[in-house]
Amino acid sequence: MALFQSSTRTIPDVPGVPRHIAIIMDGNGRWARQRFLPRVAGHQRGVETVRDVVGACRELGVEYLTLFAFSSENWRRPADEVSFLMQLFLKMLEREVIKLHDNNIRLKIIGDRRQFDDKLNVRIAEAEQLTANNTSLTLTVAANYGGRWDIMRAVQAMLRARPELSAGFGETDLEPYLSMHYAPEPDLFIRTGGEQRISNFLLWQMAYTELYFTDTLWPAFDSDALQAAIRSYQKRERRFGRTSEQLQDEQAQSGKDH
Ligand code: IPE
Ligand code: IPE
Ligand code: MG
Repeated sequence: MALFQSSTRTIPDVPGVPRHIAIIMDGNGRWARQRFLPRVAGHQRGVETVRDVVGACRELGVEYLTLFAFSSENWRRPADEVSFLMQLFLKMLEREVIKLHDNNIRLKIIGDRRQFDDKLNVRIAEAEQLTANNTSLTLTVAANYGGRWDIMRAVQAMLRARPELSAGFGETDLEPYLSMHYAPEPDLFIRTGGEQRISNFLLWQMAYTELYFTDTLWPAFDSDALQAAIRSYQKRERRFGRTSEQLQDEQAQSGKDH
């Protein structure tokens, strides 16, 4: 199992296109309300955006796309909306997995599965198994996910496996137990829908991620909007604690080496 180095220690190259994009897909309810439709119509429409964004990421050469579909706090919503979202998730798995597989996309689901029913859990396991060896894009869907849950669960799993660490442990001891151990940390985080918060998404993994917020509601987000986010990312200077001058020196040095 390859474990990616944390960007807070090993500084990754800054490529043109982010290797890993993580998105909070927000604004479905408002999109529907603006059209005098029920909130769930926004969720339905949001699925089409997911398709477009997955396709665009694959074409652009993004290696990892992580989508927040349902937070551990979303159970607080009205029961009929929660149940609609679960049904939609199941339908997506049933309908889309073959297409993902045909496009060489690996699907991963992160989050606490214990609250899902058996049917959903079987479909998740099948989908992950079918696509496990695909090599184009890794699409991770965060469902019943919470950043704090992830960290707590990782600590517990680590201590169960390696009780000697109860005396003390470091970041590299913990990282293999986090849900996204198979991916580098997100380079770019996008939140649609205008809110400027993390809402308990990938707390550990986003320590040095570039943040991008847009008012565009998720059902209206498209490949142009995605490219605007990537352009904004490309203008940033990722310093990881260093000074601008240090980075420029390094660039000049690596230019000489080539
Ligand atoms: C995001 O859209 C989808 C989920 C949280 C499942 P919302 O449903 O939060 O839409 P708004 O924020 O109410 O517009
Ligand atoms: C965050 O959206 C979670 C998902 C997109 C799945 P919410 O709309 O639930 O976030 P808050 O509650 O407004 O922060
Ligand atoms: Mg919302």
